[in-house]
Amino acid sequence: MAEGNDPHPKFHDPLLSTQSSPHHGRRYRPKAPITVVTLILLVLGLQFIVLPRYVYQISPSEVKLSQFHLDRLEARLQKCAEITTPPVRYPVTSAGSRINPRWNPFTGQNETVVFKNVKLFDGETVLDKKVDIVFKKGIIESVDTAGKSVTFDRHAKVLDLEGKFVTPGLVDLHSHHLAFAWPLLRDTDDSNEVNPEMGPVTPQVRIVDSIKAYDFATTVIASGGVTTSLILPGSANIMGGEAVLVKNALRSGENSEEVVEEILLEHGIPVSQRRRFMKMACGENPRRVYKHTRMGNAWYFRKHMERAKELMGKQDAWCLQAEALKEAGNVAAISSFMESTLKDGGATDYLEYDSSIGMLRGKVGVNIHCYETEDFWDMIHHSKEFGFRIQAFHHALEAWKVPEMIKDSGDNITIATFAEFGLYKKEAYEANLWAGKILAEHGVPVAYKSDHVESETNAKYLLYQAATAHSFHLSEDLALQSVTSVPARSLEIDHRVGYAREGYDADLVVWDSHPLSIGATALNVFIDGKDVLDAKMTEDSLSKVASGGPHELKSPDMRPTVAADIKEKSCSAIEKTGAKIAITGIQRSYLDVGLGPTAKSGSLTLVVDHGTITCFDSEPQCASASTESTTISLKNGHVLPGLTAVSVSLGLMEISSDSSTGDGEIRKGSLNPNDTVYAKYGVHLNGKAFARARIGGVTRAVTAPLYQGFVDGVSTGIKTSGKKTILDGGIFQDDVALHFAIGQAAKSESLSTISSEISKLRQILSENAGKDNIYGKAADGAFPLVVHVQNEYDIMQLIKIKQELPVINLILLGGAGAPLVAKELAAANISVILTANRGAQDTFEKLNSLPGPPLSKSPAAVLEEAGVLFGLAISGEGDSHLHNLPLEASWAAKYAGLSSKEAVNLVSRNIEQILGLNVKEESRDFVVFEGDPLQFGASVVVAFDGQDGSVSLCWPESN
Ligand SMILES: *[C@@H]1O[C@H](CO)[C@@H](O)[C@H](O)[C@H]1NC(C)=O
Ligand SMILES: *[C@@H]1O[C@H](CO)[C@@H](O)[C@H](O)[C@H]1NC(C)=O
Ligand SMILES: *[C@@H]1O[C@H](CO)[C@@H](O)[C@H](O)[C@H]1NC(C)=O
Ligand SMILES: *[C@@H]1O[C@H](CO)[C@@H](O)[C@H](O)[C@H]1NC(C)=O
Repeated sequence: MAEGNDPHPKFHDPLLSTQSSPHHGRRYRPKAPITVVTLILLVLGLQFIVLPRYVYQISPSEVKLSQFHLDRLEARLQKCAEITTPPVRYPVTSAGSRINPRWNPFTGQNETVVFKNVKLFDGETVLDKKVDIVFKKGIIESVDTAGKSVTFDRHAKVLDLEGKFVTPGLVDLHSHHLAFAWPLLRDTDDSNEVNPEMGPVTPQVRIVDSIKAYDFATTVIASGGVTTSLILPGSANIMGGEAVLVKNALRSGENSEEVVEEILLEHGIPVSQRRRFMKMACGENPRRVYKHTRMGNAWYFRKHMERAKELMGKQDAWCLQAEALKEAGNVAAISSFMESTLKDGGATDYLEYDSSIGMLRGKVGVNIHCYETEDFWDMIHHSKEFGFRIQAFHHALEAWKVPEMIKDSGDNITIATFAEFGLYKKEAYEANLWAGKILAEHGVPVAYKSDHVESETNAKYLLYQAATAHSFHLSEDLALQSVTSVPARSLEIDHRVGYAREGYDADLVVWDSHPLSIGATALNVFIDGKDVLDAKMTEDSLSKVASGGPHELKSPDMRPTVAADIKEKSCSAIEKTGAKIAITGIQRSYLDVGLGPTAKSGSLTLVVDHGTITCFDSEPQCASASTESTTISLKNGHVLPGLTAVSVSLGLMEISSDSSTGDGEIRKGSLNPNDTVYAKYGVHLNGKAFARARIGGVTRAVTAPLYQGFVDGVSTGIKTSGKKTILDGGIFQDDVALHFAIGQAAKSESLSTISSEISKLRQILSENAGKDNIYGKAADGAFPLVVHVQNEYDIMQLIKIKQELPVINLILLGGAGAPLVAKELAAANISVILTANRGAQDTFEKLNSLPGPPLSKSPAAVLEEAGVLFGLAISGEGDSHLHNLPLEASWAAKYAGLSSKEAVNLVSRNIEQILGLNVKEESRDFVVFEGDPLQFGASVVVAFDGQDGSVSLCWPESN
């Protein structure tokens, strides 16, 4: 099977056992009526299996037997060829000779499509000149300079894209959708084979056996422009099993049914020629699940590979000998050889070791979930010991510390990682926002990947990671490659996907703006030449978005940085108590006070003396005020109120999965108001998530006690500067709100239904009204009552409570279902702190929530239209995304048609108002950015504490 064979097999080979090739399978298929020869063969075969040897020896049909052995030899040799032949890579030649093996004449692309005037990232670079793209039957036929005569058929569908940005369909190197399905239910989690009888080494299982070709997350993911995904087993096992490639187009086969085979990227290619991938895992996961140490994990793996290697040796020896015997042509020798070796399957069939032997033969690409430096070393070491190549380390949040060691493996290992998700466990604690840039500088290929399971890892937003990495100085081309051609190359499918070039699969995404800009949204997503988005829906969902000008096609800025010596000098000068500071080059202020009379537009100067704004006006106007000050010169300065985050656990848990790193989690909540837990008694005021908050201009956070249950306790208000402690003003407000949770996550032994949660809340409010305790204050409306809730019916229950007790100050936190009852919320004067603006329908309780553009309106847009008072917060496993608060606000504003001032309010004034934080305009924290913080590529230069006027931040850094 040399390269360049007919790329379009005529038969559809269902993904059956890899054991029997279709070829020799056919040879033994009995035809009706059963011929005499077949009968004899069958009888002989049976004898061979069940009868003792002497019976066989007296068999009369020596000749027939020889033929039988010759046939078996031939079949086994065929198998020998298969196990050593690498998967076919169809040559990238002119389009006419390329066929998309997934295409079918019934539901496949049936009309030629022409994109005219496209700004194209082709998988490698952003082309200077606009192009036209022609695609047909699921294959890109041509990419040519715009306007140059392209030949296409008269019936072609021509779309003038007027300069819009197009990229290849995105490729996600790591996803678990389809193996799980949304909504996640206990009975559809088929991702980890953890039955103890199988043990931690299960290379023989295949995720394709778990695929549910109806998982609607697939469509959500496609709506983010992700057209190809590698679906992997989970990471509980050292060897987790084989992964499989899919295209994110449900029901794309001939009959538009939910057929697993038809979602596979290599549908239409013979099974024996398809690519195979092994999922492995280092470190914490298998360690935790099987209670081994790293030593034990390594031993299990090595023991297994030793055996695989031994069996591979047997295979090779057998195949060599069989080949030699065939050549010699001595029938008697062949018969005796076959007879003596067929007992062990002719050494070609080791079902349990097939994948591991495939790894050693380079037929099965090795993809390893591995975070820490010692684990990379260990795995590279093993790869040399046994002789396999590692295609990619996944997650790999410490790879940036050892790029040279990884490169020294000589295997060009791809690092498939997260741009910013981190800190959630020890292995993720060294996550570095600059990792992409660092790895790229060392020539290590970087891919971003989703790990799609739930909302936090929703693969729909894969591109956002590339955009984030770009803002942290990964170049435009490399950032776009990180979600297209780099993963395609790592998976060795870069002859079909990852590029938008002639002869490639017609997987193309049309974006509404530069793909690395905030809130970039797919307008069209073509998979195998067919648009999987509903144009009408896309239009409705984006109706509020102002039509993009040409400026939006410019690559967004990267974050400005400052040289260490300059930082040192200016920061030490301005951090002195009573310093006088002049900041020039400010283009925009979102403060409501302080602006001088001539401060209309253009470049302004801000003078701060002893922490007070003494001039904020044009440069000449502020000239006298700024004498003898330390000057900071900016080009594109922006002044914002300090932002307020409603955090997940900031200050209470440094590593969110390890309670020894902080206050911890409440195990058993008490409903006695005297036992209420107060976050103010548990907070620490520094850590890595604080550092991330600071680089996003987040100066304050509200944090509530951690509890997976109904009663959460009282939140506190903290400063994020890291310069204050609980003894000197680091807590700006002791008690912020009383928190409860309603919904699935709040179920407990004592309150095992949602109805019991609701009646308990009602009881608490009615029994304590008028009493001088924390519940009583909430019941009387003297203290805010925050309820963590998602489902719309649960929210309706809360609306009823508010209708009956209008005095309570009820605030919803979460609010996935809030848009479904937006009018009622507005009428009941219930405000929402929305964590679900880019939420997901990952659980049953969120099933009806909005997936967001381009599939629906955004939650923020619906709340805004209904007149609900809302602010934004970021949810997740810990607080590693806090620095994105201004970007989230900008994203929400884009879809909801809000002004940039309103965007800033979503994460500052609205939150303060909702929680009653009582911040006065004259004495609020404010932050000066270089760059526009509502776009990628802005950095905090300096921030001032509103309470004491001190410089709370000076060029803060994330690490
Ligand atoms: C192509 O297929 C679509 C449905 O998939 C159908 O609506 C359309 O009419 C077809 N076009 C042609 C030219 O056959
Ligand atoms: C390593 O892989 C990257 C992308 O996957 C590719 O661009 C590069 O050429 C490869 N380097 C080597 C030395 O093979
Ligand atoms: C809470 O403590 C106060 C003061 O000690 C006491 O009077 C009250 O009965 C206690 N409440 C409950 C519900 O235990
Ligand atoms: C809405 O609720 C807030 C907070 O409780 C309150 O200050 C405000 O007066 C209420 N507005 C209306 C119209 O009832």
